[in-house]
Amino acid sequence: SRNGIDFKVADLSLAEYGRKEIGLAEHEMPGLMALRREYADVLPLKGARISGSLHMTVQTAVLIETLVALGAEVRWASCNIFSTQDEAAAAIVVGPYGTVEEPKGVSVFAWKGESLEEYWWAAEQMLTWPGEPANMILDDGGDATSLVLRGAQFEKAGTVPPTDDDLDSAEYKVFLALLRERFETDKGKWSAIAESVQGVTEETTTGVLRLYQFAAAGELVFPAINVNDSVTKSKFDNKYGTRHSLIDGINRGTDVLIGGKKVLICGYGDVGKGCAESLSGQGARVQVTEIDPINALQALMDGYDVVTVEDAIGNADIVITSTGNLGIITFDHMKQMKHQAILGNIGHFDNEIDMAGLESSKDMTRINIKPQVDQWIFPDGKAIIVLSEGRLLNLGNATGHPSFVMSNSFSNQVIAQIELWTKNNEYDNEVYRLPKVLDEKVAKIHVEALGGTLTKLTKEQAEYINVDVEGPYKAEHYRY
Ligand code: NAI
Repeated sequence: SRNGIDFKVADLSLAEYGRKEIGLAEHEMPGLMALRREYADVLPLKGARISGSLHMTVQTAVLIETLVALGAEVRWASCNIFSTQDEAAAAIVVGPYGTVEEPKGVSVFAWKGESLEEYWWAAEQMLTWPGEPANMILDDGGDATSLVLRGAQFEKAGTVPPTDDDLDSAEYKVFLALLRERFETDKGKWSAIAESVQGVTEETTTGVLRLYQFAAAGELVFPAINVNDSVTKSKFDNKYGTRHSLIDGINRGTDVLIGGKKVLICGYGDVGKGCAESLSGQGARVQVTEIDPINALQALMDGYDVVTVEDAIGNADIVITSTGNLGIITFDHMKQMKHQAILGNIGHFDNEIDMAGLESSKDMTRINIKPQVDQWIFPDGKAIIVLSEGRLLNLGNATGHPSFVMSNSFSNQVIAQIELWTKNNEYDNEVYRLPKVLDEKVAKIHVEALGGTLTKLTKEQAEYINVDVEGPYKAEHYRY
């Protein structure tokens, strides 16, 4: 704690560098800056105490300062152990008007290269406010929401379930251990937070899936907005963001030439589509795996072979998982990979690749090349290169998606926070999406920023296609 602000970051003296990067990013985030201008006098988030769990990057820094500019108080942690940009974390603690000696910014608990124990410690700090508890959550992947909801559930049940050594992941064991410890030291902590929270806005596919599961089980105790499925989020960030940051991660991690290489991409959803374009744009020969015939057909139409992991793994030079599902690349698959082939995941959690199987095998030798790049050597001398220990490599090996695309995603986040904070009684404890007119508003700002000129409908045309001249221009069932 310094100047009354509690925080834990790698190095506060990086703040000046971080501030310069934030300055550049603000220019590339016209959506967030427009929201700051629009709401400068209204301060719609006044009174909101937002606990945020989202990759602590330069782009997130601009999001945080937008929430603050709209009147919110904020505490932050990263939603991944490798995704923090330490200079951004430092700059947010110091704030635009503070100094290293006298920080005046926001409490941040995030640094690049946390252990799992440190990760959940930081999550708890982010959710633990001095005085009144948090009343809003901004989540990416659902960890903050899960901590509050599961914590409150266990408190209600009077017990934390025992750990299952065979079934539970290392991550889940640490999660349960924290809840068990808190059960002794601070009984009722999570129930109090769950009661105080007015809503959560969720950033990504994987977190949204978890929210719908909570809602279906009747376990959601506050309303939620699914930000991911705003069109200006998933059809842009997941796709065009990945198109930029996947090869950024591979290049920074390995600097291997991508052209001519055989690449296997598992999953052809929004992220998989961006990955395929990213790699084929470099001249790679791309193969795709899918379970869904519609996505598989899209891959074929886009010019990629559709194969199975079993058939293709032995020939691939680069293997990328983007399914949001578990157990995609098993340890047995890794044994069939080519010498020096690269294996990475860009989905939210590291269970897409059997890292546990790899790490627990006594036959394997691990050589760390540099942070987030490991060579794993088999007994016969063959090796594979694993990026970011199976965690999302675009954020582990590079700096994630660039500002302009995140301006779209984060504009939806800010609008969703305003919705749930200012119109809370209009929402039940369910999962909602933002109305299309707001999606179109986000797109319009970014079209103008890129110098695009929209065509205006005539009244006659609007009537003919049965829409309003001012939008929304599409029916809900339209898929883009
Ligand atoms: P999506 O649902 O659009 O795509 C996933 C695809 O994987 C689907 O088409 C599905 O049919 C397919 N799939 C599922 N199981 C499979 C299996 N066993 N084999 C082959 N294909 C399988 O989801 P989206 O939006 O593409 O997200 C994927 C993951 O990426 C999620 O975990 C999401 O949270 C994460 N994400 C990561 C980002 C990053 O910057 N690293 C950015 C955005 C999302």
